Amino acid sequence: MRKKLIVGNWKMHLNTSQASLLIHRLQERIESHRDVEIVLAPSALVLQPLSLQIDRKKFKLAAQNCHWQDEGAFTGEISATMLHDLVHYIIVGHSERRHIFGERDEDIAKKMASVVRNGMTPILCIGETAGEKKEGETKRVLHDQLTVGLKDITSEDAKSLVIAYEPVWAISNGQDYHKHEVAKPHDVELAVKNIRHNIDQIFGRQAEQAARVLYGGSTQPDTTGGYLAIDGLDGLLVGGASLNYDQFAQMVTKVYESIRQDGA
Ligand code: PGA
Repeated sequence: MRKKLIVGNWKMHLNTSQASLLIHRLQERIESHRDVEIVLAPSALVLQPLSLQIDRKKFKLAAQNCHWQDEGAFTGEISATMLHDLVHYIIVGHSERRHIFGERDEDIAKKMASVVRNGMTPILCIGETAGEKKEGETKRVLHDQLTVGLKDITSEDAKSLVIAYEPVWAISNGQDYHKHEVAKPHDVELAVKNIRHNIDQIFGRQAEQAARVLYGGSTQPDTTGGYLAIDGLDGLLVGGASLNYDQFAQMVTKVYESIRQDGA
């Protein structure tokens, strides 16, 4: 059975003391579960202090980004080599990296390779924009982002892959969830099927069966159950709601409940 995974992406929020307080509250509130991984992706600046504070039986850490080279003259960048002792996961190709900072699929492929080379697991984010959705191009976009993004990954490494489907149009600005469209579970289900089909085509059935697929985009406690019921989906990548300990803890509880239901 694939382990469920819920990732909190804190984006560019919370300084060291705020992050420490949030972890403190989450640790009080959340119990560990052997079939679920809970991963937190704070800013790079607070990874070090949080790595000392977290209860490793409950939480793992992720970086939100990395450079593709191990070291060099790249002002302002952080390499996967530097993150190696601090995190288990690195998020690669988040839509904000793609659309605000101009990351291309080729850059993302190099980052994916560097994460794997340095012994961590990449969480590859993919998803179509509103315009691409309107033009009926979702399938093509997912196919292209996967084919190029994964081109330097071996089928063996693909078995530990995590792919997060995050349609750009559904991602919140972290403030007002009710102002824009949220993805319907049915649409997410079609995308998950498509992603699994692509992984199968690229790496074969074994890798497809082992890889985990997440959904992200304005997820909230009340929508979590609907997404978790989707066949082939293994968890969530949560942005805004992960900054609120009560909401995130509720979502973790829903993940636990979904396992009980699967087993029932
Ligand atoms: P959101 O962010 O849950 O605030 O929409 C998700 C993400 O960008 O990973």
